[in-house]
Amino acid sequence: MLQTAAHVPDHGKRVPFRFLRIVGDARQRLAAAAEARLRVLEPAAGDAVVEKLRTRFTLPPVTIAIVARLGDDEKIPASERFSSACCVAFQLLLAAHAEGFGAQWLTGWPAHDRVFLEHTLGLAADEQLVGTIAIGTATVAVPERERPDAAALLTDWPPRP
Ligand SMILES: Cc1cc2nc3c(=O)[nH]c(=O)nc-3n(C[C@H](O)[C@H](O)[C@H](O)COP(=O)(O)O)c2cc1C
Repeated sequence: MLQTAAHVPDHGKRVPFRFLRIVGDARQRLAAAAEARLRVLEPAAGDAVVEKLRTRFTLPPVTIAIVARLGDDEKIPASERFSSACCVAFQLLLAAHAEGFGAQWLTGWPAHDRVFLEHTLGLAADEQLVGTIAIGTATVAVPERERPDAAALLTDWPPRP
């Protein structure tokens, strides 16, 4: 699945991404670290918020964090390299679904808090977290959501009079 995920458009062949695997006991350790950070960021966080945060890391048997590597580059803008890393995340979702697993792309504050990213997850200063992909066996059928109408989003250029 990771090999499939790594098969993405990549301007300049920069490979602007890497994977972090969180499995086994590391799930509990990460949940504990996230809880500790949440209690600093939001001292008034209630039990339900804390439990939801912990569950994000403990429930899925496998979590893959997609890290975007965005150091200086003279030619390829960071936004393009971040786009490639986003493709990796989506490609991993598709690969997991194709294998029959449930999978979900998650972010929230853990994807943006630099202290959590650098001190807990070990990201470098020039790295960003695209998100974590939670992968496991789905236990409930996820209801289909309303999807945008592609035709309503389409215009021509130049605009038609
Ligand atoms: C960048 C990104 C971050 C997301 N973060 C979250 C999140 O933190 N929590 C959440 O419930 N859904 C999050 N989602 C939405 C879910 O991944 C997913 O789209 C949603 O559960 C519906 O799934 P579906 O679009 O496959 O039907 C995020 C999606 C994207 C693209």
